[in-house]
Amino acid sequence: MDVIRAIQTRQSVGRVRRDPVPEVLVESILESAVHAPNHKITEPWRFHVFTGKGRGELARARAETARLQAEAEGEGEEMAAGRINRERKKAFRAPVVIAVISASGRDEVESLENYAACAAAVQNMQLTAHSLGLASIWRTGPVAYHKHMRQFFGLKENDRIVAYLYIGYPDMGERPRRRSPAGERTVWHGG
Ligand SMILES: Cc1cc2nc3c(=O)[nH]c(=O)nc-3n(C[C@H](O)[C@H](O)[C@H](O)COP(=O)(O)O)c2cc1C
Repeated sequence: MDVIRAIQTRQSVGRVRRDPVPEVLVESILESAVHAPNHKITEPWRFHVFTGKGRGELARARAETARLQAEAEGEGEEMAAGRINRERKKAFRAPVVIAVISASGRDEVESLENYAACAAAVQNMQLTAHSLGLASIWRTGPVAYHKHMRQFFGLKENDRIVAYLYIGYPDMGERPRRRSPAGERTVWHGG
């Protein structure tokens, strides 16, 4: 698939089939990530790939995060149990979940630019998945920012969870794309 067509036709797909994704395809997706631009070649991306029963580790961490959140918000036992259960199940929404982490830089600017490089890496991953006939969605939410998830991944102060990329074979049709033309957001400074 040519790159412009891939960019224009990629969509976030939240509903995927349970069928496993061959490891070789997951590896292609990961390899595409490391070709993203990155300032000073810091190669800031770190990946955790959860598949099959391995997703259980992520599920437990998510559940504990939900428990801590419920506790902090003083939620009742029954409500909390429902919340914890829903959060646990989210780890199994796709056969492959890749957590993309941005490593800290040597200073604030480098950390910021590392994060930017990782966002470019995630886009490479989504485009590669799409060109391989796979669906993906970039998700964040509290599990990207909560202290417990940071501990789960053993993150240092300026490391960041950039994305959870859920990947599988699509189980939903295409939707119309909602985007304003670039011209509406552009100022040209010509000669
Ligand atoms: C930083 C970031 C975080 C996102 N987090 C979520 C999320 O938590 N849940 C979700 O459904 N989509 C999430 N998305 C995906 C966006 O909702 C999606 O890209 C947007 O709706 C545009 O749709 P498209 O990807 O099909 O063009 C996230 C995207 C980005 C860039």
